[in-house]
Amino acid sequence: MWKRLLLVSALSAAMSSAALADSLTVGFSQVGSESGWRAAETSVAKSEAQKRGITLKIADGQQKQENQIKAVRSFIAQGVDAIFIAPIVQTGWEPVLEEAKDAKIPVFLLDRAITVKDDSLYMTVVTADNVLEGKLIGDWLVKEMDGKPCNVVELQGTVGASVAIDRKKGFAEAIAKTPNIKIIRSQSGDFTRSKGKEVMESFIKAENNGKNICMVYAHNDDMAIGAIQAIKEAGLKPGKDILTGSIDGVPDIYKAMLAGEANANVELTPNMAGPAFDALEKFKKDGTLPPKIVRTESKLFLPDSAQAELDKKKDMGY
Ligand code: AHR
Repeated sequence: MWKRLLLVSALSAAMSSAALADSLTVGFSQVGSESGWRAAETSVAKSEAQKRGITLKIADGQQKQENQIKAVRSFIAQGVDAIFIAPIVQTGWEPVLEEAKDAKIPVFLLDRAITVKDDSLYMTVVTADNVLEGKLIGDWLVKEMDGKPCNVVELQGTVGASVAIDRKKGFAEAIAKTPNIKIIRSQSGDFTRSKGKEVMESFIKAENNGKNICMVYAHNDDMAIGAIQAIKEAGLKPGKDILTGSIDGVPDIYKAMLAGEANANVELTPNMAGPAFDALEKFKKDGTLPPKIVRTESKLFLPDSAQAELDKKKDMGY
């Protein structure tokens, strides 16, 4: 008898959570597809939605804030249950978020933060501590150099993106007390492989065919991979003549580590949508408000764990 009761209550719990999920439609304004990490984030968002029976509508912003704003307005017009935004830049969101608030549609931010006066304009932001990510690479370099001089070139992410601002800050803080380590050039490579390569080529040309450069710090792996290509084409050895440090943990960077061409990496999980869906489902169920920031983990990986990390990637949307 008690077994039957347990079965009935388990079934009704499963049915009510399925019914809740069935009724949810989420509009996701994605930045674009500028990097391998971004593609994985999109793919994880799709599978997380499917797992929960949520209808997910994705709009590709093609790296432009105006496209993202248009997409959010269209989601409001469609009357979705919630809006996810991976905001390309930090500022300029207030008007459209006010519109979402007026329409009583909760907004969840994925992987990048925004600056607004009124933080009730969004529910939560699911993001890593991006200052820490930059700091982890900087700390690694300080240790690696052990007092020896090192000229660093920096490939920044998209101008105005919170993650680019924070990753720059964290690295600069880590090397601040070591005068032997200096950033000699810093420019945006827009988080893409092609732009990372192009900017690295110009750094190499300007710095005695790369001979003045000791390390490239790239705000993401795709730019680092572009830089590795540029280093090779200049007749130098990436990972040896010029060290690399970057963020994301895409399979190609672990392959580069295994080939001895990359040195340090901080992994960023592409599963930003999962915690956002969790928060949304709780909120819809009983009005629970999520914490304002949901932090994902940031961890440094070196070549000795590259194979193990590469093996794990298959299940992570890559
Ligand atoms: O916002 C996260 C960053 O955006 C990733 O590190 C980068 O690859 C992406 O383009």
